[in-house]
Amino acid sequence: MIYLDNAATSFPKPESVYQALDRFARTSLANPGRAGHRMAVAAERSLDAARHALNQYFHGDAPERWAFTLNATDALNIAIKGIVNPGDHVVTTDLEHNSISRPLHALEQAGVITLTRVVSSEGYVDAGAIRRAITPATRLVAMTHASNVLGTVQPIDEIGRLTREAGALFLLDAAQSAGVVAIDLRTARIDMLAFPGHKGLYGPTGVGALYVGPRTDGLIRPWREGGTGGDSSSPGQPRHLPYLLEGGTPNVLGVAGLAAGLSWVANHEPDALRRHEVDLLQIVVDWAAGSEGWKIAGRWDPATHVGALSLIVPGDLSPQDVGAILDTSFELAVRPGLHCAPYIHRNLGTFPDGTVRLSPGAFSTPEDVLAFTTALAEITAGVL
Ligand SMILES: Cc1ncc(COP(=O)(O)O)c(C=O)c1O
Repeated sequence: MIYLDNAATSFPKPESVYQALDRFARTSLANPGRAGHRMAVAAERSLDAARHALNQYFHGDAPERWAFTLNATDALNIAIKGIVNPGDHVVTTDLEHNSISRPLHALEQAGVITLTRVVSSEGYVDAGAIRRAITPATRLVAMTHASNVLGTVQPIDEIGRLTREAGALFLLDAAQSAGVVAIDLRTARIDMLAFPGHKGLYGPTGVGALYVGPRTDGLIRPWREGGTGGDSSSPGQPRHLPYLLEGGTPNVLGVAGLAAGLSWVANHEPDALRRHEVDLLQIVVDWAAGSEGWKIAGRWDPATHVGALSLIVPGDLSPQDVGAILDTSFELAVRPGLHCAPYIHRNLGTFPDGTVRLSPGAFSTPEDVLAFTTALAEITAGVL
């Protein structure tokens, strides 16, 4: 199988991640607990080490500001539901994955918040449009760093700055950017940063992280209460981070894998992984330009792009047909459809069938991508 679905989850993982998972599962897979036996303490230490590593990589304020979550969706739900209050206004965009759109929709439907969805152009959100959407009641700007449909990277420095000037909080979904686009929490004015461990950080599924910055102190409420491996006497959730946000046994094995993935990513030159993926996409962009009918969705700008690209399917073929043929006849794994991001497909005019998205990863090769373009040419040769 030629795997070009890394925007869904990265595959394969680096060898060091498989080794770390195996080693940890065999030696240290106890339930973390500060007051427990030595294996429990060792498991707790590995969580702490991973928090330190994340904090160092993203230049956060303190390791305890990193809470481990199930995935990006979990992190985004904790952030959104933990921070908004009745009557708040929230600004978001049409690029969002349902992991932002649906919690906000649910809160809007329940009458808790009012919502403004800023419309993007060719895959990019204009910072000025965000500024115009902000009102005195705006509590939160919640948006993605890079579109999972189009791969376009958003101008978050400017958006973070103007959000802060307006006194609102900035929640960034870095599901498609963490590990491939540099994020510096010292300068980027991000108040909450959410991502999964299983995409560009090359960890396993079932783990993610949420960073909560100093401006959320005393404001963010836990969305889930429960055991934290310490402080059992208190009837309520501990007030201190990260335990405030971490009720229940964390995925310690997943965190060990995430830490190994992060260490592998951090050993690369800045921007090398993103460049590798974008160079592979350039092959597809060039091929599409000379092809019969295949079109790239959104604006292609290699400098502001991550490794995901959507193709608009020509003729009477549906993206689902193309995806199925690629899978069954060419052993190629891509993602057809709406990619859990319906609003951007409405904007592009590709709703409800969507597009065919390919997303190479760190281990993808030019040959993989050429196999994809050759297959597309063969599929369409007969029908166009
Ligand atoms: C932009 C974006 N946000 C959030 C998510 C949700 O990630 P997870 O499935 O880890 O919850 C994804 C997953 O594809 C994504 O691409």
